[in-house]
Amino acid sequence: MEQKNNWLTLKEQLASVIVGQEVLIERLMIALLAGGHVLLEGAPGLAKTTAVKVLSQAVNLDFVRIQFTPDLMPSDITGSEVLDRDSGQMRFVKGPLFHQLTLADEINRAPPKVQSALLEAMAEGQVSVGGQTYALDPLFFVVATQNPLEHSGTYPLPEAQMDRFMLHVKLDFPSADEELIILQRVRSGAFSQKATLSSFDLATLTSARAQVANMHIDLSLQQYLVRLIAATRQPELVAESLRDTIAVPASPRATLALAQAASARALMTGRDYVTPEDIVVLLPDVLRHRIHLSAKARTQKLTVDDWVQQVLDRVTLAI
Ligand SMILES: Nc1ncnc2c1ncn2[C@@H]1O[C@H](COP(=O)(O)OP(=O)(O)OP(=O)(O)O)[C@@H](O)[C@H]1O
Ligand SMILES: [Mg+2]
Repeated sequence: MEQKNNWLTLKEQLASVIVGQEVLIERLMIALLAGGHVLLEGAPGLAKTTAVKVLSQAVNLDFVRIQFTPDLMPSDITGSEVLDRDSGQMRFVKGPLFHQLTLADEINRAPPKVQSALLEAMAEGQVSVGGQTYALDPLFFVVATQNPLEHSGTYPLPEAQMDRFMLHVKLDFPSADEELIILQRVRSGAFSQKATLSSFDLATLTSARAQVANMHIDLSLQQYLVRLIAATRQPELVAESLRDTIAVPASPRATLALAQAASARALMTGRDYVTPEDIVVLLPDVLRHRIHLSAKARTQKLTVDDWVQQVLDRVTLAI
């Protein structure tokens, strides 16, 4: 019960600052509870930075924001060895990745070497500099943002490493009603107040992550989950119209990410078991950056989101 209250309170606290954007709030909390990394994609000014900052304040995480730029070097994020004048020895100076929550802003503006250094740290939980490896914080997770409008002067993320992200979330513009509340909230100074969850400590988060890892997923749901991911490899078995629509299918990492994210969603909702809805809601975010449509599918103007929807409509949960 204690746990459930914590997560509902956290959600309410985020919602008291961020207007609408329920998807953003939910997915950030899933990343926090599962210890997964999230890629946020949306136009500028949709409260991405604000939401991540408020989250880190609320749960007292040691937070850093790295603005990715074309002149960034891998050592600017990992850290580097410097000569210590007093001892005459080389000494490792930690970079910004040695925080608990890293906001990697506009990740596609930095060159591939920097992106790779980040993605490697995300996959391994450690960085290697000068032949030595250094472990990152046990709670380390990354929220990265990518702006869809910028094409010139940007570097697309390396496709093969994209699956380091547990979820790829797309954000929408607020409605007119929501925008009015945003205007009023910002003018009232609501944003200058710091929100901290008083009852929260890092042991709570560590135990939540253990609960996510041990969450009950019924065998029929595990089979459903596997069938959904398998559809990326043989879509023609789901529907003849989907034959040859996939160029790059999803790997077992997608299956694991879906189970983990669904488990975190169950925990934050106060359940100790996963429901079909957890899986259905999260499948698009799990597959968006992992599968690539074929040329044939693209000429039919099919998008990954349409494709996932067609699969969800046809693959049924066998009980
Ligand atoms: N849904 C929202 N709720 C509350 N404030 C919002 C919302 N959307 C935008 N804002 C306000 O708009 C401003 C821009 O937000 P923020 O800097 O977080 O955007 P961003 O998505 O990080 O933008 P960028 O991509 O340019 O970095 C802030 O003042 C923020 O308070
Ligand atoms: Mg921002």
